[in-house]
Amino acid sequence: MYNYGSQTMPHEGVRLEAEGGRIHEEHWQQAVQWLDEADSLVIAAGAGMGVDSGLPDFRGDEGLWRAYPALREVGLNFVSIASPQSFRDDPELAWGFYGHRLNLYRHTQPHDGFRILRRWADKMEHGAFVYTSNVDGQFQKAGFSEEQIVECHGSLHWLQCMEDCTGRLWKADTWAPSVDARACRLRSALPRCVSCGGLARPNVLMFDDAEWNAERTRRQQQRLEAWLHGVTRPVVVELGAGTAVPAVRWFASLLGAPLIRINLRESRIESGQGVGLPGRALEVLNELDRRRARV
Ligand SMILES: NC(=O)c1ccc[n+]([C@@H]2O[C@H](COP(=O)([O-])OP(=O)(O)OC[C@H]3O[C@@H](n4cnc5c(N)ncnc54)[C@H](O)[C@@H]3O)[C@@H](O)[C@H]2O)c1
Ligand SMILES: [Zn+2]
Repeated sequence: MYNYGSQTMPHEGVRLEAEGGRIHEEHWQQAVQWLDEADSLVIAAGAGMGVDSGLPDFRGDEGLWRAYPALREVGLNFVSIASPQSFRDDPELAWGFYGHRLNLYRHTQPHDGFRILRRWADKMEHGAFVYTSNVDGQFQKAGFSEEQIVECHGSLHWLQCMEDCTGRLWKADTWAPSVDARACRLRSALPRCVSCGGLARPNVLMFDDAEWNAERTRRQQQRLEAWLHGVTRPVVVELGAGTAVPAVRWFASLLGAPLIRINLRESRIESGQGVGLPGRALEVLNELDRRRARV
């Protein structure tokens, strides 16, 4: 049984850090060895995982405004648009932002790195579990089982009532928002609560958000904990998880398992915790896959 939450480092004494963006040969080798020895794969992913599929991350205000220039014009940053208050103040604008993203996520094909991770997991005794702050549903789209995913900030593919009147969640599948992307405004009718008829919102944890219904995420977390109890040698592959909202990074390092941190700009890792591989998720996964196939 793997002692979930323990701070024991099975790889204590290994001191690996990427320097100056170059990946040392010994870091590649260490990552390959951990992957080869593991009986289970924990995938911890942030917005950077979607970037190679063509999705934006929202790194800093500039990152958000590059993707949504209309928000710059009205002076809203990520914290202000991603809030229940923005739905109260201007629901068409808030749904312009989230509706556009929902359409984008529906039409995006996950990049090949997802397939590589699935193949690795298929060869491990206990397969994989995904822990992601992404609300885009890309892991399900790439064929990961719904039962093996924690979406710690919820999912844009699910809706809830603004007031959470009955605690009900429902799928957004039958709703196709029409959005004026330039103005970041919803053109079609606002989605309504299936119980009370009030305004509906995405089942996504926003900032300053007391009404988020966490029930679906709670059940996912219970499944993850049960799975972790059944594994003995997990390896964590963390991909594109930022430091601004560090939920995924905390999760990845608190597991106390060997950690492979793949990140374009923020791959630094405490010595003894794991190995940082600076680079794009897709190219680093491809290279790891190539090296694993060699032995
Ligand atoms: N796709 C989504 O669902 C999505 C997208 C943007 C933001 N969000 C939400 O916004 C918050 C943002 O937090 P976050 O930490 O996920 O994102 P972030 O934008 O703060 O950070 C992205 C991280 O990915 C790295 N990165 C960028 N491109 C990369 C690539 N090609 N390969 C590997 N790494 C790359 C960056 O260095 C950075 O560390 C979360 O709460 C999340 O729920 C979700
Ligand atoms: Zn309601």
